[in-house]
Amino acid sequence: MATPAFLLPFTLSLLLTLSLTFPATGKPPAFLKSVSPSPFNLGTQKLSRFEFYWHDTVTGANASSINIVKPPAVNSSIPGFGFVSMIDDPMTEKPEIGSKMVGRAQGFYGECSQEELALVMSMNFVFMTGWYNGSTLTVVGRNPVNQKVREMPVVGGSGVFRFARGYVQASTYSFNTKTGDAVVRYNVYVMHY
Ligand SMILES: *[C@@H]1O[C@H](CO)[C@@H](O)[C@H](O)[C@H]1NC(C)=O
Ligand SMILES: *[C@@H]1O[C@H](CO)[C@@H](O)[C@H](O)[C@H]1NC(C)=O
Ligand SMILES: *[C@@H]1O[C@H](CO)[C@@H](O)[C@H](O)[C@H]1NC(C)=O
Repeated sequence: MATPAFLLPFTLSLLLTLSLTFPATGKPPAFLKSVSPSPFNLGTQKLSRFEFYWHDTVTGANASSINIVKPPAVNSSIPGFGFVSMIDDPMTEKPEIGSKMVGRAQGFYGECSQEELALVMSMNFVFMTGWYNGSTLTVVGRNPVNQKVREMPVVGGSGVFRFARGYVQASTYSFNTKTGDAVVRYNVYVMHY
């Protein structure tokens, strides 16, 4: 059976991976080595849950979300289609911005749908407290902000979150229609070692 055209890139990358892992002839290339998993303590996988509040302040002296790409004038029902903002948003334990800081969400988001308000988000949660101080989780996903709960994947992590995977559920806690400032509750479920 012929491989459907849409599967071809996958097949090619799979073949490439296989040929790197199991070279048909000769020694593996010097840059690729099989290593023992034992120093990584991969035996016990843990499931952790975090809940915190993400403060996206787009206006004022303390703005933490800066528009870096203006939406181009395109014929879209969503006027913001194409905008990109860079963020360094504080994450706190309670909804109040003055409550204990958990870390910062650093990355960017942009409007990626022509049909509804939906952001493509790419951000690192940089934790700054507790035993995970200095560790990060990386979230990449689709955020249709008008929906009550938006789910996005946790695609990886660093530090104590090496090999992490999981998901977040984001729900808007407050939104200031005058300024555009938002406070969003993040529920994070993550598997890690
Ligand atoms: C900016 O943050 C500082 C320090 O937290 C605070 O004193 C000040 O009131 C804030 N300014 C605005 C405009 O929110
Ligand atoms: C926008 O789309 C409508 C409907 O497809 C079309 O009639 C109109 O000419 C378009 N306007 C621009 C500026 O491209
Ligand atoms: C987190 O780690 C940084 C860098 O090592 C350190 O300066 C800071 O005091 C730590 N914060 C807490 C709350 O432990």
